[in-house]
Amino acid sequence: MSNNHTVDDEKRAAAEAALEYVKPGMRLGLGTGSTAEHFVRALAPRVKAGLKLIAVATSERTATLAQELGIAVSDLNMVRHLDLTVDGADEIGPGLTVIKGGGGALLREKIVAFASKRMVVIADGAKLVDTLGRFPLPVEIARFGWHVTMERVAEAAARCGCSQNLMRLRGGEAHPFATDGGNYIADCAAESIPDPERLARSLEAIPGVVGHGLFIGMASIALIGKPAGVTTLELPHH
Ligand code: 5RP
Repeated sequence: MSNNHTVDDEKRAAAEAALEYVKPGMRLGLGTGSTAEHFVRALAPRVKAGLKLIAVATSERTATLAQELGIAVSDLNMVRHLDLTVDGADEIGPGLTVIKGGGGALLREKIVAFASKRMVVIADGAKLVDTLGRFPLPVEIARFGWHVTMERVAEAAARCGCSQNLMRLRGGEAHPFATDGGNYIADCAAESIPDPERLARSLEAIPGVVGHGLFIGMASIALIGKPAGVTTLELPHH
């Protein structure tokens, strides 16, 4: 990459590197966000050239883009098992523990990743961190009683040793952001999450929480765009 490369160049390079993992006949999960969009754009000419795939999208936004580019999108209920999902990340921590959901698609992203044998994460270099939490953790919550659920989320973050637990309803109270599933998103500015597994378990025990952006034990490979090229991080024996 040249000296005046941009974050977007890093995202594109990581996305293009992920093409190597795509094989003919695969059932493929398509992620959401600007890096995943680069991947869909890079994939489209291959499909046009005859690459056969079954694709499932993690958001309405990605489904629309894929279809516009000539990639047919199938229903997860019909496909059921996927070989690979390629998706972006907001933060990538030790052990390829990931925060996702900056684009609001965390629930579908997690359902699709969970249905996949392998998840490859693609990201720019700034996403790599020593400790998760600087990026506010997206938590998808039911509309009913959202205020109360947000309080429970803040308490869980405090109990799990996060250095902060500032909650914000995405979009604000007057115009809350709604996910593809019609839920709200509470972003939890934790600053640092010392024990992501414990926080994940605590969040999953709160009834109003529909999903959270901690992806633990799901990604096995991360392709990170950096000024010098793409670095591959791979978990052993995954
Ligand atoms: C969407 C996500 C995205 O993968 C994440 O926000 C990264 O986005 P980008 O590739 O635009 O930096 O989780 O819900």
